[in-house]
Amino acid sequence: MARVLISGGAGFIGTHASIVLLENGHDLVVIDSFVNSSPIALQRVKEITGLNELKAQQRLKVVEGDIRDKAALQKIFTDANNDGKIIDAVIHFAGLKSVKDSIKSPLNYWDVNVNGSCCLLSAMQENKCRTLIFSSSATLYGKPKSVPISETAAIDPINAYGNTKAAIEKMLADISTADSDWRIACLRYFNPIGAHASGLIGEDPRGTPNNLLPIINQVAIGHQKVLKIYGNKWPTKDGTCIRDYIHVMDLAEGHAAALDSLLQKEHQFLTVNLGTGKGHSVLEVVNSFEIATGKKIPFELSTPRYGDVGITIADPTKAKNLLGWEAKRSLVESCKDAWTWQTSNMNGYQQ
Ligand code: NAD
Ligand code: UFG
Repeated sequence: MARVLISGGAGFIGTHASIVLLENGHDLVVIDSFVNSSPIALQRVKEITGLNELKAQQRLKVVEGDIRDKAALQKIFTDANNDGKIIDAVIHFAGLKSVKDSIKSPLNYWDVNVNGSCCLLSAMQENKCRTLIFSSSATLYGKPKSVPISETAAIDPINAYGNTKAAIEKMLADISTADSDWRIACLRYFNPIGAHASGLIGEDPRGTPNNLLPIINQVAIGHQKVLKIYGNKWPTKDGTCIRDYIHVMDLAEGHAAALDSLLQKEHQFLTVNLGTGKGHSVLEVVNSFEIATGKKIPFELSTPRYGDVGITIADPTKAKNLLGWEAKRSLVESCKDAWTWQTSNMNGYQQ
């Protein structure tokens, strides 16, 4: 079993991945600045995995810190060496992810995402830790020429957030070329939704949510009156946009599979889509949510959102062939779990 440094481990995807990794027997060190998350999320991870405080000291160490803080990173590697249990691999979730904010504040996005990754990679290199999983995104593909999208499709992002992800992937490819000790997997996520079935952890966006499922949850609990559907003239069967929605626990299991694959082999540089291969329109998501929860979601048609893309669907074949992983959970299950999280935590992690 490995000891894994998880950057951004208190976030939406990081917490779910941490549960799967702990359940698989790995020990974790999390670094998170909590700029977009709460320490309570990691308390919940301990609760779900049955770690008491004593066990958690060995199996889930939490460091509050920024990945751009080189001294903080070095301390993590030094402490691990002193413990006699070095960091074998890093899963790098930490970063900023709002497309809208990235267009408004590109320098902040390049600093946190690109410079932050550079700092983390330098610390890894200096400490001879050269196994990395990176949170990449389907946003890299911009407006795809065809669907489903395979990993060989053109990389052509259409916003600053996507540009930072593309830049990091390039940086990783350069490192991999320069040094054959590196084992790297860039996992390109499609649309993560849902929550752990316990309802103890889930997506807790700061401020007004921008993504579809958190907004539907807000409408269902009455915090928002109506869902605005961004356009009904897209080239799809019902005119609303299609996305490949993947349950966050499926995504988490994809990380465990990628880690196993990297640790078993020598030098590797992988770029792998994590999606279901199935597309659902906005209206289908609304319908699935209503089936899963029994709640009616009032909606109105609105103009298309700036920068939206009509259809994105992953071709997940490579993940199945290379990692032996495929998504198992349905859209209805994702909606049900997202709703359980919402109703058990009306204000997210805020108590
Ligand atoms: P999130 O915001 O919930 O989690 C990111 C975590 O990183 C947060 O806990 C935040 O506090 C932390 N963080 C941010 N900047 C940091 C810094 N400088 N130092 C230390 N910690 C920092 O987001 P998420 O949805 O869990 O996404 C995780 C990763 O996956 C991100 O890199 C994101 O770009 C990528 N991704 C997310 C989606 C999605 O739809 N959620 C899709 C594709 C890719
Ligand atoms: N939508 C609405 N109304 C809303 C919100 C969303 O109709 O109030 C629609 C959007 O137009 C889109 C779909 O619901 O067609 C999904 O929208 P999201 O904002 O949930 O997701 P996106 O596909 O736009 O983007 C997400 C992440 C990006 C990431 C991308 C691919 O926000 O960061 O998936 O992984 F890059």
